Amino acid sequence: MNQGKRVGIVGAGNVGATVAYSLAMLGSCHEIILRDNKIDVAKGKALDMSQAAAAVRSHTVVSVAEEMSDLTNCDVVVVTAGSPRLPGMSRDDLLMINANITKDVIAGVAKYSPDAIIIMVSNPLDAMTYVALKESGFERSRVIGMAGILDSARMASFIQEKLGYGGGQIRASVMGGHGDDMVPLASYSTVAGVPLANLLSPSEIQDIVVRTRNGGAEIVGYLKTGSAYYAPAKATAIMVEAILKDTKQIHPCAVYLEGEYGHSDVVSGVPVMLGANGAEKIIQISLSEDEKKMFEGSCNSVKNLINTLNNNNFFNKGE
Ligand code: 2OP
Repeated sequence: MNQGKRVGIVGAGNVGATVAYSLAMLGSCHEIILRDNKIDVAKGKALDMSQAAAAVRSHTVVSVAEEMSDLTNCDVVVVTAGSPRLPGMSRDDLLMINANITKDVIAGVAKYSPDAIIIMVSNPLDAMTYVALKESGFERSRVIGMAGILDSARMASFIQEKLGYGGGQIRASVMGGHGDDMVPLASYSTVAGVPLANLLSPSEIQDIVVRTRNGGAEIVGYLKTGSAYYAPAKATAIMVEAILKDTKQIHPCAVYLEGEYGHSDVVSGVPVMLGANGAEKIIQISLSEDEKKMFEGSCNSVKNLINTLNNNNFFNKGE
């Protein structure tokens, strides 16, 4: 048990609340603190979840921070605040709206939970992780974006659906940004250790790659008024648990690159070892020439967003 551990969650909408619910059910931490501008909604959800925790004999208490200044001394802060992605809207459309929200939130996190590890969930994910890193001034190991676990889980579920077997034995791997040009890596995807190429034809694998890239949009298309939250929240909770329990396990996460994979001053999804200090190690795997090109394309998309922010003097404002 991680007695005494505090997890802050900024944004108590579908994703934030479901992260809180997952952690409360697991008893991963002592206290979960929800922060949302809709204070009464957050209070209602917090009570409901504390009662659910009591039902499963979990010791986790869920409370509400009425102000950012109440979000103090958290070990981990998950940031889901932002405008959601609506039908017809790309993740990138959200750039300026969510960059400004992220800037405000991160200033509060840095002030009131200066030792926290920040997990970014808001879209466009890689650019928001970059904003959070720059605005917090934290070292890069403490600002991590959630995307790779989600995208890999989506790929795994599509592999299972295509094969009709193998559920629970699939290890799918996705690198790159959480955008339309993410890099699903069939070469690193296996079912019980059997490479995907031995189980599916190249065109079947290509179908899975395309569906994985569109995985978020497919769900938005059905929900109409919002985006996915069960899998995004579970993926986030896996990261929080890895940090709180110091598991030192490898997960695909979005981090700031300083020369890894040949890229710098950009955030992208790569395998990292997660532990008590956050993204403690970036793992470099070998990629084929095609995979390197796709990864470069994905990094360039994120760099374009960062350029847009720079062109709007985003990082100078208010300083
Ligand atoms: C998703 O992939 C919207 O990024 C979110 O579901």
